[in-house]
Amino acid sequence: MRVLVTGADGQVGTELRLNVPEWVELIALNSRQLDITDLQAVEVCMAQYRPQLIINAAAYTAVDRAQTEQQQAHAVNASGPANLARSAETAGAALFHISTDYVFDGVSESPYDESALTSPQTVYGRTKLDGEQAVAELCTRHLILRTSWVFSAHGGNFVKTMLRLASERDVLRVVADQYGGPTSAKSIAACLWTLASEYRGKPDSFCWGLFHFSGAPISSWYGFAEHIVAVAAQEGLIEKRPLVEPIPSTDFPTPAPRPAFSALNCDKIRDFHAVELSDWREDLSAVFATLGRL
Ligand SMILES: NC(=O)c1ccc[n+]([C@@H]2O[C@H](COP(=O)([O-])OP(=O)(O)OC[C@H]3O[C@@H](n4cnc5c(N)ncnc54)[C@H](OP(=O)(O)O)[C@@H]3O)[C@@H](O)[C@H]2O)c1
Repeated sequence: MRVLVTGADGQVGTELRLNVPEWVELIALNSRQLDITDLQAVEVCMAQYRPQLIINAAAYTAVDRAQTEQQQAHAVNASGPANLARSAETAGAALFHISTDYVFDGVSESPYDESALTSPQTVYGRTKLDGEQAVAELCTRHLILRTSWVFSAHGGNFVKTMLRLASERDVLRVVADQYGGPTSAKSIAACLWTLASEYRGKPDSFCWGLFHFSGAPISSWYGFAEHIVAVAAQEGLIEKRPLVEPIPSTDFPTPAPRPAFSALNCDKIRDFHAVELSDWREDLSAVFATLGRL
């Protein structure tokens, strides 16, 4: 099966490349090789490679910067997916697209399922929701995978920020009143390859649409940070274990307000697809093992 991965140098794109199944003929293009905001470039690429499936791992993910770079965020997160969806439909290809828990406002007290009302509170969340809607409208065979709090050994993320700060400071002050599901990029890649395999095996009865996929169990950023420094100290990735101090989000104001509770209910993907949820604590140990080898 010929699969085109866009945004191939990002966290998820990298893990898709590193874990590609043998039955996949992979065309992995980074932002320099294919700018998804350029419709003509997308069309040329589709004509050249003729993929059966596109996995869009490209996105504008700088959540705070998006507040002042609205146009760029919209171009990558909404117009780009629209270009891919339109081209996929014309070419008879399928599209897997990745989205975010930040399409929700975070006032719920239980995990959001796929039918929950969206209400993004930030430019990033709004543009990602616009991207979802474009994909759903323009491409018949689409699957949108909402995920959350992505970490990996590659690229910038919360885990690597905590490791850096742990080597610089004795005390880390971390927000304790925002909850979500830390998710390893590797588990997202594994999920996407499982879905691709299912689609390859039963293209006519594959279940399309919107799905949630995130790591378990639910945690606060504080709980996540506590676990990161405890295991990192144990594994010798940091010399000393700093104190992690819980703080309210009012003590850590950001240009883009984060949802207080954005955990995703992932029952649907388990029911309709052969996808199991990943325990982020196990995935974190695997990331540390990779970082230890780098
Ligand atoms: N990171 C998270 O915590 C998080 C949480 C929930 C959902 N998600 C979603 O998960 C998906 C993957 O995120 P990630 O963490 O892997 O993101 P990432 O590491 O920031 O990677 C995104 C990639 O997209 C590329 N890109 C940006 N503009 C592009 C364009 N115009 N054309 C082609 N490629 C472009 C970037 O390349 P450059 O670096 O060259 O710009 C980067 O390599 C995204 O849809 C994101 O919204 C992420």
